[in-house]
Amino acid sequence: MTIQTFGEERAKRYNRALQRCPYARVREIIPILFLLYEEDRRKQTLIDLASGTGYLADALKPLFERSIRVDKSPAFLAASQSNRDLIYADIREVSNILPDTLQVDAVTCLAALHHIYRLGKDKINVSLSDKVQSESLMRWTRLLAPGGKLVLVDVGVPDLQTIGKQNYSLAQSLKYYYEQKQAFFQQKHFSIHTHLFDAINEDVPGYRVKRVIQQLLSTCQDGVVSLASLIKQQNLIYRVLPEKMLTVDFFDEVVANFSIDGHISHFPRESTIQAVLEKSGLENILITCLPTPWVFDTEAEAVWFVRELFGLGEEAVLDPDDLLKRPDFEKIKAYIHQFLGMVTEEGKTYVNWQLLFAYGEKPDK
Ligand SMILES: C[S@@+](CC[C@H](N)C(=O)[O-])C[C@H]1O[C@@H](n2cnc3c(N)ncnc32)[C@H](O)[C@@H]1O
Repeated sequence: MTIQTFGEERAKRYNRALQRCPYARVREIIPILFLLYEEDRRKQTLIDLASGTGYLADALKPLFERSIRVDKSPAFLAASQSNRDLIYADIREVSNILPDTLQVDAVTCLAALHHIYRLGKDKINVSLSDKVQSESLMRWTRLLAPGGKLVLVDVGVPDLQTIGKQNYSLAQSLKYYYEQKQAFFQQKHFSIHTHLFDAINEDVPGYRVKRVIQQLLSTCQDGVVSLASLIKQQNLIYRVLPEKMLTVDFFDEVVANFSIDGHISHFPRESTIQAVLEKSGLENILITCLPTPWVFDTEAEAVWFVRELFGLGEEAVLDPDDLLKRPDFEKIKAYIHQFLGMVTEEGKTYVNWQLLFAYGEKPDK
């Protein structure tokens, strides 16, 4: 099998999945919206690194005057909605490619840092991969203007061993991890700004942002959503109890073996990212894994989305109903149950998904 991060067919299938179900990943975006929102953001500039088809940049468009998208895959950039400010470049080198004078107000990167790695003889070299990821992150922070914000989100590894108790199973450690985070974040609020609400409502069709914010608000007091309430409301793992508890296992055991392009990755750890952001001199650093379940209208749609987003199976299937008739429907459904967890409740199907969120601000001098 050839490994080429995202070939043309893989990019096409990825894009088709997002176009049909833009609402599926909206819970990945909600924390980013809250972290980046500022009243006067509309005059400001964003760089979205490894932008792909622009899924995140499109969601953030209402908040920024200018959005620059960077990706190294021509197939992905070709699928982007707009041609404005598209840069074909490697995100490891991006600060060398952009003009020295360019300083931006926000740098984002969603679901891509794990693509930066170094191989040893026949497997990932962990320390060299940590090093190249750290060097890239340091370069990205140099793109920030004073007061600028970095939001890095990726499939990551929670630091369970540092806060878990000895002899805990993985499931118990993860439960303990989220309990500790919930207690810690009780006071960390996302405040709901009416302007954010209005801007996003009118400008991001299909993402169902407003619906999710309303659900979050309905469970919180005083119009304020805290990270703790987000964890509480979105943590599915104890309802679905997959055999494997960490999202990284899904990549290593399913995507790596069954995606048309394979998958080699080095997933960042909480503590490694924390150290780099501190070394870069960022302030107000916040690092945590958060539950960000994907949501679908039907189970068939969920299985189809996972199949097409990750390019599982040689042949693309264009419609969820067509997948129902194929033998690999049951196979992929079984993988989802085993590695991620899935549940259908009150007319919606949820696939358990978790991401690492890292945030920091450049000192405003
Ligand atoms: C999983 S996709 C994520 C795309 C988008 N951020 C999203 O969340 O939908 C990963 C993206 O990273 C890009 N990518 C991977 N390694 C890269 C690199 N070294 N430089 C630039 N882009 C890269 C791929 O081309 C692809 O578009």
